[in-house]
Amino acid sequence: MIRLTRRYRWPASHRLHSDALSDEQNWQLYGKCNNPYGHGHDYVLEVSVRGEVDARSGQVAHIERLDTVVQSSVLDDFAHQNLNCLPDFAGVVPTTENIASAIERRLQSNWPNAFPGPGPGDGPVLDRVRVRETRNNSFELET
Ligand code: NI
Repeated sequence: MIRLTRRYRWPASHRLHSDALSDEQNWQLYGKCNNPYGHGHDYVLEVSVRGEVDARSGQVAHIERLDTVVQSSVLDDFAHQNLNCLPDFAGVVPTTENIASAIERRLQSNWPNAFPGPGPGDGPVLDRVRVRETRNNSFELET
């Protein structure tokens, strides 16, 4: 078994605000991140896959296909967007925890098309989604 990690970047804005909480509770919980005008991040996404190395190709995954599934499942919809407006975050606060979950869901639903197996580089499974929000914060989701 080997793990491959590939890195992507996308800029987006968000506002941390829960409709389940009062304005005051939101402010206490999220502070400046609750600012009604939102704020931006240069998010960094790391997608890890794992599998066996295919004896024919010498690879665990067809990298171009990984790039394509990440691009079409995530980056095309998330880049340069106000994340609060995406259907993934209707009634869900776009914290980086929830962003990582949404990314995992999107990737899993398109995974069988991207990696049908058992051809060369066709068989990896999604192993980990890691989202870096700032220099000091990153969140990892193990599948
Ligand atoms: Ni933020």
